[in-house]
Amino acid sequence: MSKEYVLKDTDFLVSQTDAKGNILFANDDFCKIAGYTIDELVGKPHNIVRHPDMPKDAFKDLWDTVNRGEIWTGYVKNATKMGGHYWVYATVYPSIACESGECGFLSCRRKPSADEIADAERLYKTMS
Ligand SMILES: Cc1cc2nc3c(=O)[nH]c(=O)nc-3n(C[C@H](O)[C@H](O)[C@H](O)COP(=O)(O)O)c2cc1C
Repeated sequence: MSKEYVLKDTDFLVSQTDAKGNILFANDDFCKIAGYTIDELVGKPHNIVRHPDMPKDAFKDLWDTVNRGEIWTGYVKNATKMGGHYWVYATVYPSIACESGECGFLSCRRKPSADEIADAERLYKTMS
């Protein structure tokens, strides 16, 4: 079991990607909790924080949803640079600039409750 960072109530993690999922921006909470400097994140694919326990199908659903122009919400277990992990409840959505041809995506993440994490853990064990 890797070490868990349990988000504080006030933690709010934001990141922005281009159309392919390469990171354009991450806020301080994101950088601090994931354990990277902003320079280590910008330009990298967002799967830099992917945790191996996350089912592929969750991300397929995320991408299918945002590429349709819709909002995806869900629970995500992410890996930290130091080999720990943290759970978030994420809202992922296309940037408004999509209409002008400059498509990108944003994700805003808050602390999930312990019950929500337990439910997501159970669900993700049944998915591939
Ligand atoms: C705005 C945005 C935020 C994302 N945030 C995360 C994240 O926090 N953790 C994560 O593992 N994948 C995140 N993804 C999905 C990744 O782009 C990627 O699909 C996922 O990590 C699975 O990696 P793979 O596609 O290489 O299998 C995000 C995608 C977008 C568009």
